[in-house]
Order: sequence, then C-alpha cells, then structure tokens
Amino acid sequence: MRTLDQISWENFSALSLGEKATALMPDDRPYHVLLAQQFQRRHLDALGDLATRIRFIAKNREGMAFLHSLMAYRRAMLYFSQPSSRTFLSFCAACEILGLAIGEVRDTSTSSELKGETQEDSVRTFSSYFDLIVMRTKEAGLAERMSWVLSNTDRPIPIINAGSGRDQHPTQALLDIYTLQRSFAARGGIDGKRIVFVGDLQRGRTVRSLAALLTNYRDVTQCFCAPPPFQIQSDILSMLDAAGVRYEVSADFTGMIPGADAIYMTRVQDEWDSQIGDSARVDVSQYCFRVEHLSLLKPTAVLMHPFPRRNEISPDVDRDPRAKYWRQMRNGMWIRAALIATIFGHDQAIREYHEKNIPVA
Ligand code: CP
Repeated sequence: MRTLDQISWENFSALSLGEKATALMPDDRPYHVLLAQQFQRRHLDALGDLATRIRFIAKNREGMAFLHSLMAYRRAMLYFSQPSSRTFLSFCAACEILGLAIGEVRDTSTSSELKGETQEDSVRTFSSYFDLIVMRTKEAGLAERMSWVLSNTDRPIPIINAGSGRDQHPTQALLDIYTLQRSFAARGGIDGKRIVFVGDLQRGRTVRSLAALLTNYRDVTQCFCAPPPFQIQSDILSMLDAAGVRYEVSADFTGMIPGADAIYMTRVQDEWDSQIGDSARVDVSQYCFRVEHLSLLKPTAVLMHPFPRRNEISPDVDRDPRAKYWRQMRNGMWIRAALIATIFGHDQAIREYHEKNIPVA
C-alpha cells in the first residue's frame, strides 16, 4: 500500500475506508490519525498498555521529569475551529506531560483565514513552526485533505483528527476503548460484552468511531437505542454486517438496560440541525438515565458518556461506582499522551522506564 506522498489526492480520496486505514499506518504505526478504522486490536492493546504505564510513571516527580524530557524539543499546534472542552484540554495536558510546547488557534477570526488565506496555507503555516497538528473541524474530511497536503510538502508533520464533522472522532473512541479495557480488565476484557449506545446516534461522531473500533473484539453485541429520527445510520450497520458483528436496533431504552455490560449515553447533537428547532421536535425524554434505572443495571455494568451532557444522565447517578464518565474523561489525557508518544516513537522508552522503575503491584 502506498503512503500519502505516493498517491494523488484524487486516488487517495477514492480509496475505501479500509484502504485509507492501511495507508495511514506506515510500518504498522500511526502517523496521521484520521480514522478509527486504522486501529486494529494489536494497536488498541498496545495503546492501552502504554497509557497505563504513563499513568503509573506520572505518579511521582521523577517519573514526570522523565516523561517531560521525552518531547521537550517538540511543539504542537491545537487548531480547534469547533468548540471543545475535554478534547482540547486533554490534548493540552497530554502534550504537557510529554514536554511538548503548545500553540493554539481556537477562533479562526483571529487568524489570517479572515484575510482570505486558504485552509491549506493556514495548515502549511502551522507546519513551519510546529511538529504536530491536532485539528477539530466542522467539515468532515478536512483533516484527511490536510494530511495529504502536508505529506506532499517538504515539511510533512502528523495531523491528529480531534473530531471532524459528524463523521469521525477517533481519539474519543480510543479513550472509550481504554475505559472499557480498564473496566472489564478483571472480567475477560471487552470480548463477549454487550454495548448499548443511546441517544442521537445519527449525528454522533463518537458513536460512529467507537462502533468501528469495537469490531476488533470477539463476540461483542452492539445495540443502538434511539428514537427513530436519531437512529444509527445504515453505513454503520453495513460496516457491522461486513465485519460479521451482531447488532440490535431498538427504541426501548428501559428494556435494554438489564442486559447491558456498558451503556454509552449521548446528547442530542442539535448543532447539526438543518433548521433551528428541528431536534426539539423529537421526544428524547425516554432516553435519559435516572436514579431509578440503577436498580435495572447489572452490578458489573458500566455507564459511559463522551460528554458534554445535558440531561441524559442525572447528576444523582454520578456517585454510583458503575458511573465511569469522569474516569472516562481523564482517560482521554492518558490515551492521547500514549498516542502522541507512539506517533513519535517514544513508546519503547516509556516501556523500558516503566519496567525498570515501577514495582509490579
Ligand atoms: N467528548 C468531547 O469531544 O468533548 P468536547 O467537545 O468537550 O471536546
């Protein structure tokens, strides 16, 4: 498979998701991170393992000094033209853990895009000063296009997609998988589990990316629970069919709770409404997790949410040990640090430091 500098944009953009995913993993290692589909089970296991090692190393001053020394000569540009709290801040924190200095553009009206500069030239400008671009955009596919553009310049640097349109949020899916790995570590891992997605599944990019990553696990059942206007799109179901994954589609939230090993709640994505108020016409009141639902939930199940939340999970539920969404959020910092360290080839040094310095529990 050719890499992005060996293929025209027309030919690259015409590739299937699977072919693109292969092109994005030169030497079986992420460079640009654009699609959930580029990660297979071995990559997910390695990233989760590395995130855990970083988490333990970061518990003391010497360990933090080691991590900080790894990339102290590197700089990252966080280019977020769409709102974000968790993804932006966890990438900031991940960069700081590894020693990268950070630059940011969060409001394109303060950049020369306002003077008519193309996004291609903006991104090439970032590559003049930085070693990594983390990019969130409203436009699906922009990170992909920019990755191809940069790969065909004399200063190629990696791009990480931090959320693109309604389509992909691969690093959210990585932190979700890491949360599931940790939650089910003592119960056989993710294999064999029943994962229930709830809410606006039609426009939720986190669900789309996580559904793709979950195809890497054996005997997982994916359940999609939403009112009909917000139900999962057919391209995801076709992907599951092609992967031989068992799935269920339902509108009955309460009926789904007792069988679930993980429930993944999501909010209404009304920023994508074609007309203001479209979403408000859909009744989602039956798709909220309230205290009375806790008695229906298995003692071993976990409750997740990518956040931000509105009323999909009552704050009264937060203190239940099965509510994992605050841990899930913090996991984003560790898995993003692991991802950046892997892109730049520091994963082996982290493993060696961990083995030498951190006592086995
Ligand atoms: N989960 C997530 O992407 O949150 P933010 O939009 O706050 O980054």
